[in-house]
Amino acid sequence: MGNRTKHLAVVAAALAILAGIGSMMNAQPPGPSGPGRPGKGIRGGPGGPGAMASYSAPTLAKTEAEKKILPVLEDMNRNQRAGMMNVPEADGQLLRLLVESIGAKTVVEIGMSNGYSGLWMALGLRSTGGKLITHEIDEGRAKLARENFKRAGVEDIVTIVMGDAHEEVKKLKGPVDLCFIDADKEGYTDYLNKMLPLMRPGGLIVAHNVNPRQVDEAFVKAISTNEDLHTVFLNDRGVSISMKKR
Ligand SMILES: C[S@@+](CC[C@H](N)C(=O)[O-])C[C@H]1O[C@@H](n2cnc3c(N)ncnc32)[C@H](O)[C@@H]1O
Repeated sequence: MGNRTKHLAVVAAALAILAGIGSMMNAQPPGPSGPGRPGKGIRGGPGGPGAMASYSAPTLAKTEAEKKILPVLEDMNRNQRAGMMNVPEADGQLLRLLVESIGAKTVVEIGMSNGYSGLWMALGLRSTGGKLITHEIDEGRAKLARENFKRAGVEDIVTIVMGDAHEEVKKLKGPVDLCFIDADKEGYTDYLNKMLPLMRPGGLIVAHNVNPRQVDEAFVKAISTNEDLHTVFLNDRGVSISMKKR
C-alpha cells in the first residue's frame, strides 16, 4: 500500500469512528421524557462529558402515590435542575426500585440538594411503609426540598437533617436498610466507615459519581476489598451498589 493509500485509509477510519459517535449522540432525545409520560426510551443521563446513553422506560403512574409524586419529579426534572446536581432520571428510577424491592423501612441519604433523588426513594417508601432521613448542608437547597416534599405529599415520611453530614450521621441509629451517598466526593470513605456498622445484613450502600474523575480511589478500594461487602459497579452511570453480606 502506497503512502497516499495508507493516508486515505486512516482518514476513512477516523470518519467512521466520528460517524459512530455522532449517531450515539443523536440517539438522545432533545428534552426529558419525564416520568409518567411515554418517552422515547433512550435517555442520556447528564453524567458529564463522555457519559453513555442509557435506556430507561418511563415510570407510569398506577398508585395514588405515583399519581401525586411523579408530576412533582417531572417538574423538578424540567425546571429545577440548574445548580442542583441531581442524579439523572434513570438513577432516580433505580433508587426507587432498590428501595421498594428490598422492602426498605429506613433509608438514609447523604446529600439531598433540592430533594430529587430523595423523592424517588420516598416513592418506594410509600409502598414499603418506610421513612427517609436525608442530610444537607446548604439551606437554600434544603428550602426547595422542603417545598418539593410537601407538594408531593411525602413530608410525613421524610426527616431533613441540616448540617455537616460527617457529624450528623454519628447520631443515627441502625438498622438502616439502604444508604445513598451523594455529597462531598472526598468524604465517601468517611461516610462508608460511619454507615457500615448501622447497615442491616442484606442492606445496600449505593454511591453516586463513583468514577475516577470524581470519587477518591480510597472509597473504590474500600468497597472492593471489604469481605463483608458484595459490590457491583454500574460503570456507565458511575453508580456503585454494595450489599452488606448476611
Ligand atoms: C450532588 S448533590 C446531591 C444531589 C441529590 N442527591 C439529588 O440527586 O437530588 C450534593 C449535595 O450534598 C451537599 N453536601 C456537600 N457536603 C455536605 C456535607 N458535608 N454535609 C451535608 N451535605 C453536604 C451539597 O450541598 C449538595 O446539595
